[in-house]
Amino acid sequence: MEHHGFSKSVELFKRAAKVIPGGIYGPKSPAFVIPGSYPYYFSKGKGCRLYDVDGNEYIDFMCGYGSQILGYCYEPVDKEAIRQIKEGDLLNGPQPMMVSLAETLVEQISGMDWAVFTKNGTDSTTLAVSLARVHTGKKKIILAKGAYHGSANWCSSNDYPVLSEKTDILTFSYNNTEELESLFKTHRGEIAAIILTPYHHPSFAAQVMPGDTFYPTVERLIKAEGALFILDDIRCNFRLSLEGSHSFFGCQPDLLAMGKSAANGQPISILMGTDALRKTAGSFFITGTFWMSGMPFAAALSCLKAMKELDILSHMNRVGTLLREGLTDLGKAAGFDILMSGPPAIPFMMFKGDEDLYLNQIFCSEMTRRGVYLHPHHNWFISWAHKEEDIEQTLTTAQEAFTITAAAVS
Ligand SMILES: Cc1ncc(COP(=O)(O)O)c(C=O)c1O
Repeated sequence: MEHHGFSKSVELFKRAAKVIPGGIYGPKSPAFVIPGSYPYYFSKGKGCRLYDVDGNEYIDFMCGYGSQILGYCYEPVDKEAIRQIKEGDLLNGPQPMMVSLAETLVEQISGMDWAVFTKNGTDSTTLAVSLARVHTGKKKIILAKGAYHGSANWCSSNDYPVLSEKTDILTFSYNNTEELESLFKTHRGEIAAIILTPYHHPSFAAQVMPGDTFYPTVERLIKAEGALFILDDIRCNFRLSLEGSHSFFGCQPDLLAMGKSAANGQPISILMGTDALRKTAGSFFITGTFWMSGMPFAAALSCLKAMKELDILSHMNRVGTLLREGLTDLGKAAGFDILMSGPPAIPFMMFKGDEDLYLNQIFCSEMTRRGVYLHPHHNWFISWAHKEEDIEQTLTTAQEAFTITAAAVS
């Protein structure tokens, strides 16, 4: 099979490096992948297909880092978004759709009584943490080691001594209920909240589901402490349940941060909460210049409607399971023990024993060079737009990539 070439991506990156620090910043930096294996710049997307500036086509398993739950350019959502842009996107105050969206979410999302809207996931998690501190009058926030909650200094990997936001952050090892009990004991009377993703999806490692006793322990401890439970559902958003991922796991947060896929890629993030927090949220200064722009509200309403009508959950589960089983079998045939982690709609593959992801780097690079975009150290995403034939094509490519990976280590 012919390899993709990336000369235009490289050219653009050289130009970027002169005017943008790092050329491409954050986790999308080429520094994290094998040089010459990945495109850096993209031109368009349609369905589950992505196109780069060199004209290469990919079956995409990153879905704009999860945001494209219906697929790129899903027409009914785009039509609504474009209609709204033509009506005026950012006016002096909100349009009626903001109310309709809050009503729809309050009705749909389990146990949540109000919603406010921001732009990025980081806005919502940071707001949740602030509200928890104001509401409880306490400062300390517990989070799991390796969990990602955004790019603000309180939770990001920016670890410079001059940034003081981390002093009240406590961490524990995910699923380790003894460690968690001990944190609550040591800091009794100081803990405002625990913030958790629905299950653990660290980068550079396998995904971990919550153990049977995990959520009951969390709920018991926060109740005894008078602390709050914040669920950061930004990444899983609508890939586990349309009622919020807590209903999938049978737990009940006080604050719920959502986003990413709520408007099929249009910029909106959501913070929802229970009645007990309504007064605190109402008293807090919450704003951003673009937070009430109408287009994402229109897109979100259309996206929520489509997700329900299409029954996307069973589709993503079926297609994700085909991918998971196919890769496991092909890997085995090539002599590897494959570890698929996470739910079918948010899968991640590792080679057992390949803790530094050396084999993953080779495998995912060879897949991407052959037109199947896979990330070597971040979980993947399935969308409504991935069909059985896309998985078949992916598995045909994977057979070749496994053979090359095996040859590289023999
Ligand atoms: C679990 C989780 N929380 C928060 C965020 C931050 O969202 P954003 O990048 O929109 O600020 C992300 C982004 O990937 C995420 O995966």
